[in-house]
Amino acid sequence: MISIQLNDLQVECEQGRTILEVARAHGVEIPTLCHHPSLPPAGLCRLCIVEQEWPDGERSVKSSCTLQATDGMKILTDTDRVHSLRAGVIELLLLRAPHATSIRDLANLYGVEQPALTQLQEPDGCVLCGLCVRTCEQSMAREAITCAQRSTGRSVATAFHDRSENCVGCGSCVNVCPTGVLHLEQQDGVRRIFWNDQLLNETELVPCEDCGDEFTTRQLLDWTAQRGKPNAVDTEHPVCPACARQRQARRMARPLARY
Ligand code: SF4
Ligand code: SF4
Ligand code: FES
Repeated sequence: MISIQLNDLQVECEQGRTILEVARAHGVEIPTLCHHPSLPPAGLCRLCIVEQEWPDGERSVKSSCTLQATDGMKILTDTDRVHSLRAGVIELLLLRAPHATSIRDLANLYGVEQPALTQLQEPDGCVLCGLCVRTCEQSMAREAITCAQRSTGRSVATAFHDRSENCVGCGSCVNVCPTGVLHLEQQDGVRRIFWNDQLLNETELVPCEDCGDEFTTRQLLDWTAQRGKPNAVDTEHPVCPACARQRQARRMARPLARY
């Protein structure tokens, strides 16, 4: 174990932990945007910045999600400088996604006013946090979407802006998107994934063999089976998680019925 100073607290933690992890473990709030606990840190958004104070009193600004704790370190998470730098980041986020609840909540917290939308570029609601791309690539191993360049700037898109054959319609990218610019619609047995109004792909919904609820997609079932996941659903006889639990409970109760 090592020891660090976190604001006024002297805390112990394991070597290799990030400052963000240590802070959260001790109830110290640090806002994040591009961080997700199931993905390696990317250090993209700079919202999680803190100050590191060196023995000579000098301070430098670091991203807490990528900064590893070392013994004797002194970290300040709530100084005027940190507050003002985070407010600057939030102002830029507001320009990109002025209607996103998550960004407006942050702005309220930091007292940031909505900046005048005088930019040439229309806000498209995407803060380019990259969470969707990293989730698709690193959690789902699909690489169906990427950060692409458009005439007006960067956006999230499929290769060549065509519908992506790689997309299995899992919805993981939608779940991690902090602004809701990625969303899905389900109708007539089809799941559609959109970035704004741009259709990324369509996949076939699969009903549960027991209750009939459309709970997954054909492409995701096939991909999960292909990856050899131990809890893969039977692709021939798909059953949703709730019905699978009921089947299991019935199987377990059967031997007891004899007594
Ligand atoms: S829905 Fe498609 S694009 Fe989104 S994470 Fe799943 S495979 Fe990737
Ligand atoms: S679509 Fe959502 S998750 Fe993806 S980069 Fe934009 S804001 Fe982030
Ligand atoms: S959460 Fe640390 S840089 Fe984005």
